[in-house]
Amino acid sequence: TTPLRLGIAGLGTVGTGLIKIVQTNGDLLARRAGRPIEIVAVCARSRTRNRGVDISTYDWEDDPVALARRDDIDIVVELMGGENGPAKALTEAAIAAGKHVVSANKALLAIHGQALAEAAEAQDVSLRFEAAVAGGIPVIKALSEGLAGNRITRIKGVMNGTCNYILTRMEDAGLPYETVFEEASQLGYLEADPTLDVGGIDAAHKLTLLSAIAFGVRPDFDAIALGGIERISIEDIRAAADLGLRIKLLGVAQMTGRGLEQSMTPCLVPADSPLGQLKGGTNMIVIEGDAVEQIILRGPGAGEGPTASAVIGDVIDIARGFRMPVFGQPATTLEAAVSAKAMGS
Ligand code: NDP
Ligand code: HSE
Repeated sequence: TTPLRLGIAGLGTVGTGLIKIVQTNGDLLARRAGRPIEIVAVCARSRTRNRGVDISTYDWEDDPVALARRDDIDIVVELMGGENGPAKALTEAAIAAGKHVVSANKALLAIHGQALAEAAEAQDVSLRFEAAVAGGIPVIKALSEGLAGNRITRIKGVMNGTCNYILTRMEDAGLPYETVFEEASQLGYLEADPTLDVGGIDAAHKLTLLSAIAFGVRPDFDAIALGGIERISIEDIRAAADLGLRIKLLGVAQMTGRGLEQSMTPCLVPADSPLGQLKGGTNMIVIEGDAVEQIILRGPGAGEGPTASAVIGDVIDIARGFRMPVFGQPATTLEAAVSAKAMGS
């Protein structure tokens, strides 16, 4: 059987996690995908860094765009990160070269998703990004497949593990923000630029993508009312606890009489609710639809294994020939959001 050939750009936390799954579960993947999945070439900045996985049998590319254009690759997997720069150049080059793309890059997709989706659909290739939202939780699949027949009315949830870890550790251990921030860094939760996490931007990128899929609107990061957790103090957390409440960085996207309202801000939730009970780096997404009523998805929102799990799921879908518009409906039919910022409007 013809193997499905991967080129992986980025060999950090997620990239090495993906290589481990391919190397460890090769037989299983081949059975599930109906054909062997082979890594052909890889790319990162440092050629010599020990990454804890054997990459000696793969071709090395110094230039991500050259990787994207190789004739012997079917799927380009973008695991470098960054809203612009090489990640954008590689993704555009891969699509232009007729390759499928699997990405974990929520920053890139939240800002450039519409243009990339239109390009992918014009080229008749897949652009998939399950790993970009809530790590190991298959929330994009849930929305665009299992719940495709619902009119979604509301999505809310905790979509940034770093912020949830910081807030729950501050509460449970009575530790100051700075100490807990350092712990989160040691656990590998943080983005390369941590202000993306604590400023709420990373979580808002994720909500942008979920809103596009759930409500059929163009991804519009600027429509989200945004606030971070940097100024939440132990005193704030204690005052909330005294009232039976907890502080969460909560994303909400909901259809109202004023249009689609979207926010990613610190919110008070009842301490005994599912969201209030959510601890550590875990994510939770609550989806409400007219037919399904409510479902709750909970799981690891980051880390090597969980995020790579979502990436390989997308790869297997492509191997199976499963084709779906990037945002669950053709990008040309996505509506400009009638959008009101949930705060301040
Ligand atoms: P890392 O910082 O661990 O790894 C990034 C990799 O990209 C490194 O191997 C780096 O090379 C490579 N890279 C960076 N710039 C270039 C360049 N110009 N040319 C070639 N290679 C380059 O990132 P993560 O693995 O944590 O994240 C990857 C993506 O996945 C990001 O978009 C992130 O937002 C997303 N993501 C991450 C999650 C996580 O838990 N970590 C969860 C969900 C999504 P080198 O190693 O040589 O420096
Ligand atoms: N920095 C992100 C988080 C990684 O803490 O959730 C996963 O997207």
